[in-house]
Amino acid sequence: MMMRRQLSVCVLLLLVLAGQQQAAAKKYAAIFNFGDSLVDAGNLVVDGIPEYLATAKLPYGMTYFGYPTGRCSDGRLVVDFIAQELGLPLLPPSKARNATFHHGANFAITGATALDTSYFVAKGLGKTVWNSGSLHTQIKWLQEMKPKICSSPEECRGLFRRSLFIVGEFGGNDYNSPLFAFRPLEEVHEFVGDVVNSIGEGIEKLIAEGAVDLVVPGVLPIGCFPVYLSIFRKQPEMYGGKSGCIKDLNTLSWVHNVALQRKIVELRKKHSDVRIMYADYYTPTIQFVLHAEKWGMLRQKPRACCGAPGIGVYNFNLTSKCGEPGAYACDDPSNHWSWDGIHLTEASYGHIARGWLYGPFADPPIVGNRNLE
Ligand SMILES: *[C@@H]1O[C@H](CO)[C@@H](O)[C@H](O)[C@H]1NC(C)=O
Ligand SMILES: *[C@@H]1O[C@H](CO)[C@@H](O)[C@H](O)[C@H]1NC(C)=O
Repeated sequence: MMMRRQLSVCVLLLLVLAGQQQAAAKKYAAIFNFGDSLVDAGNLVVDGIPEYLATAKLPYGMTYFGYPTGRCSDGRLVVDFIAQELGLPLLPPSKARNATFHHGANFAITGATALDTSYFVAKGLGKTVWNSGSLHTQIKWLQEMKPKICSSPEECRGLFRRSLFIVGEFGGNDYNSPLFAFRPLEEVHEFVGDVVNSIGEGIEKLIAEGAVDLVVPGVLPIGCFPVYLSIFRKQPEMYGGKSGCIKDLNTLSWVHNVALQRKIVELRKKHSDVRIMYADYYTPTIQFVLHAEKWGMLRQKPRACCGAPGIGVYNFNLTSKCGEPGAYACDDPSNHWSWDGIHLTEASYGHIARGWLYGPFADPPIVGNRNLE
C-alpha cells in the first residue's frame, strides 16, 4: 500500500515535471508581429476612429470584445489566438501610446504592402496603393521601439532570441494595387518575384536584429473572397465547379506561396541557426469553402457574414460595406468563414491559429519547434 502510494506520488511528480517542461517549451518572452489588415490590432485607430474607416465601427468587434478595436473582424485575429495559446497577453498595437511592449508588439497596419510605395508609383499605380506602413516601415518602427523595451543592444538581442516573430502575411495588398487598377493578370504575376524578395529582405533584417524563430505566412486564396468575386466578373468556366472561386486569382495566390516557400528554403540554408516556419492561410481557407460543415460552418457559395446585397450571392456591396449604412452582420458569425467579404471571421482565424500552432497548417508547427532555455 505504502509502496503504491510512493509510486503514485512519483508518477505524479514525473507528470508535473513533464508538464513544466512542456510549458517551458512553449514559453516565448514576447511576440513581434508584422502585417496588414489581417492582423492589424488597431494601429490605424490609436488617434481615434477616422470617420471614413468602416472597419473601426460596429459590428466589427462584436464577438469577443463587444466593441470595435480596429481589428478587421468580428473578434480576435490569428495573432491574438497565438498569443493567448502561448500564455501571453494580446499584443498591443505598436502605435498605442500608453501600452507596454515587454511581451511584444503588433506592428501590423491595414493597407500594408511588402514593397515600398515608390515601387507602385514607378509603375503608375500610385493612386491604387494606400500604404500606411510597408513591411520595411514596420521594421523601422521595431528599431525605434527598442529603447522602450530593452536598455542595451545586447539586451535587445537577448529578448529577440527568446521571442517569436510573425512576418505577414504580406503580398495581398501588393497584388490588390494592380488588380484593382484592372491591369492584366499576366502583369500582376510579374510582381511576384519582387514581392517575395522584399519579404525575404525583411526576414533577413529581423535576423540581423537577433530574431531566431520566425513564422512567415503565405497569402489567401483571393479568388474565394466576395470582394474579388463581386468586382471581377468572369466566364462561367473561370469558376471552380465545387468552390465557386475564381480559378486564375487563386492561381496567383498559389504561385506567390510556392515562390515564398522556395525563398524560405533558401533562407534556411543561408541562416542555419534560425528557424523559419511557413504558415499556410491558403489550405484552411479552401477547406472552409469546400468542406464548411467539417468546420462547423454553413455550406454555401462564398458569402460575407457582414455586408449588404450586391451583385450575385456574395452579400457584398461596394457602396454598402460592413460597418457602413445599409450593411448588417449575420446572426452567428461562427457559421461563416468570411466576415466582411475581405477578411475572415474570428471562428476562421481561431481554426487557422490552432493549425499553425499544433499542425497541420504550418511547416513545422509553432509549438514543439523549439525548447526555450
Ligand atoms: C490609454 O489612454 C487613453 C487616454 O488616456 C485611454 O482612453 C485608454 O483606455 C488607454 N488605453 C489603455 C490600453 O490603457
Ligand atoms: C448596393 O447598395 C446600394 C445602397 O448602398 C443600393 O442602392 C444598391 O441597389 C445595392 N446594389 C445591389 C446590386 O443590390
